[in-house]
Amino acid sequence: MSRRILISSVENFPVGELKTINVEGTSILVVRLAGGRFCAVRNRCAHLPLSMSGGTLDGTTLTCPWHSSQYDICTGENLDWVRKLAGVKLPGWSRKLIALGKQPQPLTTYPVIEEDGDLYIEL
Ligand code: FES
Repeated sequence: MSRRILISSVENFPVGELKTINVEGTSILVVRLAGGRFCAVRNRCAHLPLSMSGGTLDGTTLTCPWHSSQYDICTGENLDWVRKLAGVKLPGWSRKLIALGKQPQPLTTYPVIEEDGDLYIEL
């Protein structure tokens, strides 16, 4: 059974800015998209269990700062898997090597609810 937890006032989330919040010990990335929609994913890459707080966001595409795997921040879907190492684009054979045998996986997503100027997340 999910629980609704108050995380902040909506005004603390500028449009397009990736924010890291901690909800009961779980690190979560939250973004407010143009148009006002909010999306949230667990702040832990599916490739290696590392924080993606330093990642970049282009529309709804979240890029991991470590090996540039890409995810849709609203659906959690993996869009591309292990693309770069130290900023250098990897050829196909080395992508598999750096992936350490792991197959592409989605991120865990969380519903975000806006109500009366406040933002809630469901865990
Ligand atoms: S830790 Fe995110 S792509 Fe490797």
